[in-house]
Amino acid sequence: MITESLARRRTTIAFAFLRNPFRILSFIAGIPSRVRQISRARFRTGQLILRSPRTRWGCSHSSASGHAAEPDADWQTERPRPPRLTSKNRPEPDVEAELGAGSPGIDGADRVRMLAMSRRALSFGVVAEAYERFRLGYPVELFDLVMTYAGRPVRTALEIGAGTGKATRLFAQRGVTVTATEPDGAMLAELRKHVAADVKTVHAAFEDVRPGERYGLVYAAAALHWTNPEGRWSRMAALLEPGGVFASFGGPLQLADAAVEEAVRAARAPFLESDDVPSPDGTPPGHDMQWPGTELQRSEWFADVRQSVIVRRATMSAHDYVGHLSTISAYLELPTPEREQAFSRIMRVLPETVEIAADITVHLARRRCEQ
Ligand SMILES: C[S@@+](CC[C@H](N)C(=O)[O-])C[C@H]1O[C@@H](n2cnc3c(N)ncnc32)[C@H](O)[C@@H]1O
Repeated sequence: MITESLARRRTTIAFAFLRNPFRILSFIAGIPSRVRQISRARFRTGQLILRSPRTRWGCSHSSASGHAAEPDADWQTERPRPPRLTSKNRPEPDVEAELGAGSPGIDGADRVRMLAMSRRALSFGVVAEAYERFRLGYPVELFDLVMTYAGRPVRTALEIGAGTGKATRLFAQRGVTVTATEPDGAMLAELRKHVAADVKTVHAAFEDVRPGERYGLVYAAAALHWTNPEGRWSRMAALLEPGGVFASFGGPLQLADAAVEEAVRAARAPFLESDDVPSPDGTPPGHDMQWPGTELQRSEWFADVRQSVIVRRATMSAHDYVGHLSTISAYLELPTPEREQAFSRIMRVLPETVEIAADITVHLARRRCEQ
């Protein structure tokens, strides 16, 4: 078995080396690398490894906490440090007002679940088509990064908050059997238009995905921060094969030109102070390890936590940039007249085309094996 796993490891290294010798040498040497390459006509991407502890290729048998219980035996066993929540990152919807107390068909459990899921988290469905049109997709470098980290073939994946399927396609088109889960029916309907028939879809929030099948990979693209932190990692571990990989990735789209950025900030200011989502656990932006890497490092279920950045630059028209803003939850929360005013003010200060920094921060971790 050891020989077999060594042979597999050698094959994986050789394959990765053939695909990108510079990147694999950087990986082995642990040297931070910034490899820029053209991936598509309009996007330039490269990979910057911010933190790269030793890669473990198989199942890690060492457990810092020495846990013995299966994660799905008791989902409440893990109690992560409560994140510093603000009204900005997790506004509570007034479900009582919206549904009316004692609404028929809504039982206590549903009510609690709906309360936990903020209105902002479920704001994307109303702009599902625009989301698919204006949001950037994910580059092949991301797929390579996840597969290199896995160090073994990944055959099945569960996606959390799949949206319109942008990250679903990245994995499904490269031989991974993906189950895409998404709580918003309108997003899921849009996803179905863009993925192959063999992609399984489940209409569910992460909190409602029941463990059963275990996957080689569980991933969330720009979606994990919307999930309930309570029991997040034991629930995640219950969905993964021992040694399976968890990946979370995403990042804001930022204007590269500081003067244009300032003009947009001033145009937006009467309506919105900021349009980004603050770190769910309050990790400061300058910290080496960002959320959710911080939570993963504290979790007893995961090991080998790694943070990388895929550097991505793009040029887009002012119209497409504002189209992108129209899919950002902070703007979606504004009343329609204010949102429209904000967009027309922003449009007026933009040049015809804008340079964009759209780096993708990737967090990877490996589920520990049972003892
Ligand atoms: C910013 S979108 C990202 C969509 C897609 N993953 C992408 O990268 O384009 C966030 C998605 O998370 C979903 N979402 C919100 N709350 C969730 C929850 N509790 N569990 C799973 N997904 C959730 C939203 O419906 C939305 O589709």
